[in-house]
Amino acid sequence: MAHLILDPVMTNSTGFILLLVFLFGVTILVHAQQQTGFISIDCGGPENFEYTDEDTKIKYVTDGSYIQTGVNKNISSDYAYPKNPNLPYPLSDLRSFPHGNRNCYRLIAGTKGSLHLIRASFLYGNYDGENKLPEFDLYVGVNFWSSVKFKNASEQVALETISMATSEETNVCLVNKGKGIPFISALELRPIDNSIYKTEFGDSASLLLFKRWDIGSFNGSGRYQDDVYDRIWFPLKSSSWKSISTSSKIDVSGDGYKPPFEVIRNAATPRNENDSLEFSWISDDRNLKFNVYLYFAEVEKLNKTQLREFDVSWNGSPLIKSIIPRYLQATTVFNSKSLVANEHRISIQKTEDSTLPPILNAVEIYVVRQLDALPTSEEDGMTCCNI
Ligand SMILES: *[C@@H]1O[C@H](CO)[C@@H](O)[C@H](O)[C@H]1NC(C)=O
Ligand SMILES: *[C@@H]1O[C@H](CO)[C@@H](O)[C@H](O)[C@H]1NC(C)=O
Ligand SMILES: *[C@@H]1O[C@H](CO)[C@@H](O)[C@H](O)[C@H]1NC(C)=O
Ligand SMILES: *[C@@H]1O[C@H](CO)[C@@H](O)[C@H](O)[C@H]1NC(C)=O
Ligand SMILES: *[C@@H]1O[C@H](CO)[C@@H](O)[C@H](O)[C@H]1NC(C)=O
Repeated sequence: MAHLILDPVMTNSTGFILLLVFLFGVTILVHAQQQTGFISIDCGGPENFEYTDEDTKIKYVTDGSYIQTGVNKNISSDYAYPKNPNLPYPLSDLRSFPHGNRNCYRLIAGTKGSLHLIRASFLYGNYDGENKLPEFDLYVGVNFWSSVKFKNASEQVALETISMATSEETNVCLVNKGKGIPFISALELRPIDNSIYKTEFGDSASLLLFKRWDIGSFNGSGRYQDDVYDRIWFPLKSSSWKSISTSSKIDVSGDGYKPPFEVIRNAATPRNENDSLEFSWISDDRNLKFNVYLYFAEVEKLNKTQLREFDVSWNGSPLIKSIIPRYLQATTVFNSKSLVANEHRISIQKTEDSTLPPILNAVEIYVVRQLDALPTSEEDGMTCCNI
């Protein structure tokens, strides 16, 4: 699943509620906090240290003084500040796990059935002086999340999953598979309204982020204080699109996905008014199931003779019919049945009645993973951490 490895320009992050770090049966209280429900850990940082990121205003806590096992390390100066002036602060240090096959962070958040976005970030940076890229596995509880692999020592890998909690404890585990020592640079959890990011599989599936694109954007950091879910958005442009935008406020109250203003205020539209708006991707595993979440808001004031209406199709088959974006109001739509194929092409085409070309403001693409097991919290703890 090489496709899940992104190259994000990560900024410092964080904030949180109550965090317990748990390793080999040692449970220690870490912190209580701020931005409701956010948990943000700068792994491997100095003891008793917390800070607020200047860009995001999110508060970070380090795990340093609260963990009995694992080893704090700094990345090599070759990859650190000042040689690497754009390095996000949390990635300059990390916690590595030379002992034990399975080491877990135990996050206390929400209750059974709560939906969480979990983001784990990694930068190897030759911290061990071995110049050898490790490969290891990541789990949420007993469920496999992803393998973690690196192309080089300076690659920043960020993995995201949206999954439903099976209890008030969520265990994020690093598993040694004999290909080098696991480590982690940052770990974040954001509570998500559980009426959104639905799949056809109900509670027995989680989502793995594949792509999250801010369509038609000009600039921006990709991470915004008004994003209640603290997502990271990557600009996507095409030479066959032009951007349209508004500086008026956009109402997101009717849209549970609550896109940040900087993302929803811009849209792309085809340069040629009769063209469709298209994007595509390739899946190296043809059995993967994809869900696509499309964000729309009309950013132009239309008069009575104008109409912007369009259909969405996938590989030539109709997916969603007759979308009319509302002026300055956000809406998010998604496929009701997951998409399975080698090649995927989403096409947004104006209807016959439409006088205006289609628009698209943002899109998220996730891999849908049906869960292997839905353990009780006790089983989860047993399997996870050897209590
Ligand atoms: C990492 O670097 C910081 C700042 O230079 C230093 O205070 C800390 O002791 C270092 N940590 C380790 C584990 O070497
Ligand atoms: C490391 O890999 C990333 C991701 O493929 C790439 O963007 C970057 O240019 C590479 N850096 C070096 C120094 O090779
Ligand atoms: C972002 O783009 C807009 C529109 O082009 C421009 O007005 C604004 O100054 C830009 N902001 C930054 C931070 O570059
Ligand atoms: C788009 O199609 C309409 C109707 O067929 C045509 O009148 C118009 O010239 C076309 N516009 C472009 C830019 O091709
Ligand atoms: C509506 O807007 C279009 C495009 O700007 C314009 O050509 C048309 O005359 C307008 N119609 C009315 C009734 O204002």
